[in-house]
Amino acid sequence: LPLVQVLHTEAPYYYRRSDVSMSEEQFVAHCAAELEALIEREGADTIAAFWAEPVLGTGGIVPPPKGYWEAIQPILKKHDILLVADEVVTGFGRLGTMFGSTHYGLEPDLITIAKGLTSAYAPLSGSIVSEGVWKVLEQGTDALGPIGHGWTYSAHPVGAAAGIANLELIDKLALVKAAGETGAYFNKVLGEALAGHPHVGEVRGEGMLAAVEFVEDRETRTFFDPARKVGPAIAAALLERGVIGRAMPQGDILGFAPPFCLTRSEADEIAARTADAVAAVLD
Ligand SMILES: Cc1ncc(COP(=O)(O)O)c(C=O)c1O
Repeated sequence: LPLVQVLHTEAPYYYRRSDVSMSEEQFVAHCAAELEALIEREGADTIAAFWAEPVLGTGGIVPPPKGYWEAIQPILKKHDILLVADEVVTGFGRLGTMFGSTHYGLEPDLITIAKGLTSAYAPLSGSIVSEGVWKVLEQGTDALGPIGHGWTYSAHPVGAAAGIANLELIDKLALVKAAGETGAYFNKVLGEALAGHPHVGEVRGEGMLAAVEFVEDRETRTFFDPARKVGPAIAAALLERGVIGRAMPQGDILGFAPPFCLTRSEADEIAARTADAVAAVLD
């Protein structure tokens, strides 16, 4: 966020690490050291919370490098800094677990939720608050009076009813399990369909999330000139082939977040049509 009071630390985006010689393990240690340095520079008592998505969503659909959360969480605990998990994308099954926090063993103090709560059939969002945070609000209310907090449409019954109906369906159709299983299959076939393509730098994903990052030169990891708009061209070619992929804003990245009812044969179709669209634009 471009706000002066919001500071950013190194994003856990291994493919875009500035020093390509770093192993995944070294990169995680670097991310942890950067966070420690930021906390020390600012003073832990001036930091309200560390805010992160379990997997970066709009930032490029980037699962964290192995060991990232295991390294970050103890630093936050040591400095008594709250962890806010933004699960607007990862909440309600996207990673094959009900919450992305469970997937990575996170113990957040707050969780933000929205999209998957109603599968976007109706607008609804919310925050899940830990016992510790809740106690502070409760005691603060006792001491200082009610905390003024609400919106015109807070707790709107139509959104809430859609949320309940959706969550019942997620359970009844075992969609969280399906997202994990079919998502893993989708990631596998997408990777296979694009393997070895000289302009495919990385195919990555987790659960029912996948992304393809395109590069001019795979060996040197040289990115395309953004002015060429390679990502949007591939997304457009894919749409002509009947598949919606998102040209992500972070680079020439094609992102996929299929519905949890995706079948294996549909996953095969997406992978094949993506390879076809990539060939049409880049070969
Ligand atoms: C991870 C994440 N958090 C928050 C938001 C924004 O949510 P809202 O529009 O409810 O503020 C988005 C929107 O796409 C998102 O992807």
